[in-house]
Amino acid sequence: MTKTDQPRVIIFDTTLRDGEQSPGATMSHEEKLEIASLLDEMGVDVIEAGFPIASEGDFAAVAEIARRSKNSTICGLSRANFKDIDRCWEAVKHAASPRIHTFIGTSPLHRAIPNLTMDEMAERVHETVTHARNLCDNVQWSAMDATRTEHDYLCRVVEIAIKAGASTINIPDTVGYTAPRESADLIAMLLARVPGADKVIFATHCHNDLGMATANALAAVDAGARQIECTINGLGERAGNTALEEVVMAMKVRNDIMPYRTGIDTTKIMNLSRRVSSVSGFQVQFNKAIVGKNAFLHESGIHQDGVLKNVETFEIMRPADIGLTSNNIAMGKHSGRAALRSKLKELGYDLADNQLNDVFVRFKALADRKKEVYDDDLIALVADEQTNDAHEFLQLKKLRVVCGTEGPQEADMVLSIDGVDHHIDATGDGPVDAAFMCVKMLFPHQAQLEVYQVHAVTEGTDAQATVSVRLQEDGRIVTGSSADTDTIVASTKAYINALNKLIVRRTKSAPGDDVKSVNYRDAG
Ligand code: KIV
Ligand code: ZN
Repeated sequence: MTKTDQPRVIIFDTTLRDGEQSPGATMSHEEKLEIASLLDEMGVDVIEAGFPIASEGDFAAVAEIARRSKNSTICGLSRANFKDIDRCWEAVKHAASPRIHTFIGTSPLHRAIPNLTMDEMAERVHETVTHARNLCDNVQWSAMDATRTEHDYLCRVVEIAIKAGASTINIPDTVGYTAPRESADLIAMLLARVPGADKVIFATHCHNDLGMATANALAAVDAGARQIECTINGLGERAGNTALEEVVMAMKVRNDIMPYRTGIDTTKIMNLSRRVSSVSGFQVQFNKAIVGKNAFLHESGIHQDGVLKNVETFEIMRPADIGLTSNNIAMGKHSGRAALRSKLKELGYDLADNQLNDVFVRFKALADRKKEVYDDDLIALVADEQTNDAHEFLQLKKLRVVCGTEGPQEADMVLSIDGVDHHIDATGDGPVDAAFMCVKMLFPHQAQLEVYQVHAVTEGTDAQATVSVRLQEDGRIVTGSSADTDTIVASTKAYINALNKLIVRRTKSAPGDDVKSVNYRDAG
């Protein structure tokens, strides 16, 4: 079978919806637009851009992504009621190819929440899919918690959804409970038993609670599912969703036993992975398949020797297949703007002139402080530039800290608040605490610090540190990040970045009135 004869698997990316539902993974409007445009360029077939009824912010992001989409179908999520579906349509209708996705929890546990009988729920499926289909030609219906739903009942509601006009039927493993053989059997059972099943696309949507999301998705495809729902880096609630990069690369590398094709340009994977990690504040674990920092590293002598003689001894795919260039020493302090532009292009960043100018100034400052500037340094620098916008409400203008064995540690800070500089000094239990104390005194707030993480970008004591800070206020969770060779500066900027995100969230939603707290499990 030639590659073009192979069945085509639709890649449905839900980084901006299910991924963003991860506590603390909230992205700003601009960040969502950027990720959507990268997904579109990479060849994702369907982008689930958000949950329009959840908040004004979600609605605006889905509508704008729909307007700007070039190739991808743009989908929005809605519960099983007319108000949600109408709101979803209002947002996605701007796309050249819109899709409404509506769902209801069909398992006994989920039926109990809206307190619907089996018959009442079946009627609800009929009414809501019919309503969605009257608005949009492309309707996806999901049976939430399908893997824990009685087979007879699942067949019944799937048949109703198909008859009401859904063209994609999604069979989610909402709590990551299934296993590969069972995942395959479920799809095979539905294809065999449900009238009209051969006329629609079956989708698989797996969560990773038992670490089987990738295997379950691929098993479902083997049984006849033709859409995989996934996220970049496997981002998502709890243990996350099926990772896009894993299923796509598995079908590419093991095409001999999984003869399916996708429309994904795999060389764009690494850049997307980095951007999603940076905007969500979720670091990719070092040993993560495909995109982890160690995924292509060969530490042991035997492996290094083998790879040098023949890369195939220990490498089943090439770093270049996912757009990974070797972490070369990128540039030195004598490198010019044109060299920086071309290096950034090679790393997947096509910056506008003014952005390039800002990055160039910071690159020069970094090259003065740091002996060797690696690709990873440039990536951290660009991410920081894109995250910490100079027009933010709060901006760090100056910071000096005194630290050492003789406490208490002191910080002296100038913070710009809405364009006006304020000065303060404070002591704390360590330099980071002292710096954060300055911010709290100048900009009082009740947000609780939930996570504070520091990572070195490269090796060496002059390495840049990337810092993530997660704050929680009234149920709103935000993550800020920053990078600098000075860990205290990076920490303070990450904290300020999180506060800036919180300020935006406060203006866009009442406490608790956002995607994290809309009870999306309540189908009513
Ligand atoms: O996991 C799940 O069941 C979902 C549905 C809303 C599709 O994300
Ligand atoms: Zn999900």
